[in-house]
Amino acid sequence: MIRLKNVTKKYKNHYALKNIDLKIDSGEFVFVVGSSGAGKSTLMKLLYSEEKPTSGVVSIGGINIANIKNDKIPNLRRCMGIVFQDYKLLQNQTVFDNVAYVIRTLGISSKEINDRVSGALKIVGLYEKRRAIPAELSGGEQQRVGIARAIVNGPPLLIADEPTGNLDPQNSMEIMQILDQINQRGITVIVSTHDNNMVDYFRKRVIKLDHGEIVKDKEAGTYE
Ligand SMILES: Nc1ncnc2c1ncn2[C@@H]1O[C@H](COP(=O)(O)OP(=O)(O)OP(=O)(O)O)[C@@H](O)[C@H]1O
Ligand SMILES: [Mg+2]
Repeated sequence: MIRLKNVTKKYKNHYALKNIDLKIDSGEFVFVVGSSGAGKSTLMKLLYSEEKPTSGVVSIGGINIANIKNDKIPNLRRCMGIVFQDYKLLQNQTVFDNVAYVIRTLGISSKEINDRVSGALKIVGLYEKRRAIPAELSGGEQQRVGIARAIVNGPPLLIADEPTGNLDPQNSMEIMQILDQINQRGITVIVSTHDNNMVDYFRKRVIKLDHGEIVKDKEAGTYE
């Protein structure tokens, strides 16, 4: 599903990623780890085309997006859900509307919107709070809204860049368990994290970056 070939990303003269070769199959759950500045967010941004590689191939579903035209990016992102460390919710909109926001542009009926949003909110356990606004939710709940928004369109791929970076251990565990359940529905999940306890607990594939290079790629791996 995802293939990176000899990918390098330079910001001015600084190499954020160097000669990355990587294959991620459909249905995998992958942790991307490494210290601050190692290149985790840059790698994620290449996948959702927030940044373009300086050289190399980034292919998703067999299509090279390395030089994708900007007007094709919305289409690419319809095939993936993206979860951010800081949730990026609309503060003046309800939980329901935050999740519905993207699919309202698709020209589907309001019943269909209601069904899909309700389904996504039930998966993350927030259906009861659908009428709340973000300020009325805990951080963990806000991140669950972020996850519901990411999966509401039924994407085959979910990308989460430090989804638990602002959360305490208990909320982090809940979020990781939700991501694991989403993966068990067949969705490919890629999660960057600093959280060694989570990585050691879940024993998924671990890709470790150091100064922009892959220094470890291990099935059922640990943080160190
Ligand atoms: N827009 C940018 N312009 C210039 N340099 C950048 C930019 N974004 C990232 N970098 C640099 O590229 C390197 C990799 O950054 P990246 O954000 O990918 O690291 P990270 O592993 O996600 O770190 P963190 O754990 O702190 O989030 C760092 O040295 C960073 O300073
Ligand atoms: Mg980062």
